[in-house]
Amino acid sequence: VGELADLPVDLLEVLRTRRSAKWRTYLGDVLPLTVAEMDFALAPCVAQALHAAVDLSDTGYGNGRIGLAESLAGFALRRWGWAIDPSQVTGVTDVGSGVVQVFRLLIRPGDTVVVNTPVYHPFFDWVADVGAKLRAAPLAHDVSGWHLDLDALESAFAERPSVYLLCNPHNPVGRVHRAEELTEVVRLAHQYGVTVISDEIHAPLVYDGFVFTPFLTLDGAAEVAVSVLSASKAWNLAALQCAVVVTAHPRMAEVVGRFSPDAMWRTGHFGVIAAIAAFDDGEPWLDQLLATLGRRRAQLGVLLDEHLPMIKWLPPEATYLAWLDCRAIGSGDEPRDRFLEKGRVALESGPHFGPDGSGFIRLNFATSTEIPEAAVNGMAQSLSDTGTALGRTN
Ligand SMILES: Cc1ncc(COP(=O)(O)O)c(C=O)c1O
Repeated sequence: VGELADLPVDLLEVLRTRRSAKWRTYLGDVLPLTVAEMDFALAPCVAQALHAAVDLSDTGYGNGRIGLAESLAGFALRRWGWAIDPSQVTGVTDVGSGVVQVFRLLIRPGDTVVVNTPVYHPFFDWVADVGAKLRAAPLAHDVSGWHLDLDALESAFAERPSVYLLCNPHNPVGRVHRAEELTEVVRLAHQYGVTVISDEIHAPLVYDGFVFTPFLTLDGAAEVAVSVLSASKAWNLAALQCAVVVTAHPRMAEVVGRFSPDAMWRTGHFGVIAAIAAFDDGEPWLDQLLATLGRRRAQLGVLLDEHLPMIKWLPPEATYLAWLDCRAIGSGDEPRDRFLEKGRVALESGPHFGPDGSGFIRLNFATSTEIPEAAVNGMAQSLSDTGTALGRTN
């Protein structure tokens, strides 16, 4: 089997004509490596499905009940050996609204939700949206990287939270939680009566060498957990507003069955069309994406070694977000500011992901080879005043 070619990316001046958040938040000469959108051309099977819908003026309401569940089930079985019952798949507009709807049905005033910081920052907003209290059970961080701290999790569970919002694979650290760790999470969930919501939006983006374990495939998990997934990260479809909540046990199906009947009507019709195309026909493209991202990840390592050796990182096990430890560059809690102001490179703020993100930034490398190169040069330039980029102290 030959090596898969890189996916195409438009030139920077064309990318700058996009109107999505990544390309419109920072104008002028700023290079954005921020929000989790990708710069690659759409998967042809997805683009064709959307073009066909436009040609047909097929722009009415979505029907998340037709086809989407079967397509997801087919994909999950082929990709992960996960047998999903299509009747237990519920369409929602996005992962955030799926999680918040489950929260609303489970959380009573004064209840607590546990999350593992540093974590995708809208988790904090979703918890606040339903008036719940947030309990951080920070990830552990050692030479082997970032991982679930099962003791910290048990201490948090012992306080009897109602829900644990798990992120697997984990944004921003890129960890694919191990099956043994997740098995222990199931045990703790039963022991302390906690419901697990597993946000698995990044699951299709796991690199070779790592194995994604769908939470609901673990023994005993189905009774205490729901999973929320979407094609939106792996095929870059956030615009189209379609995600799914999956259950595998009557107890959790009963909860999801109480979603507002109107919610189904809000799932984006184009999102359903695109997700079906992606799940049914988008696997060869996904493999090409992962090969491309694997090369970008390696390129980033070379660039950082060469130009910013004081920045420490571990290449992510999944997804296209690099979590960079900038604590040695001497730019305080928010190194992002300096890279933006002096380097004209926009990155995500580490502290937004929680207090343990102080001194970190998150860099999105789902793009061409030129953009990471220009970004790392701009970042190094922004530090060159003091020489810290090269590790000099003069
Ligand atoms: C872990 C995680 N969950 C959810 C989302 C957002 O998903 P949605 O736009 O479907 O709410 C993201 C987006 O990057 C994410 O990283």
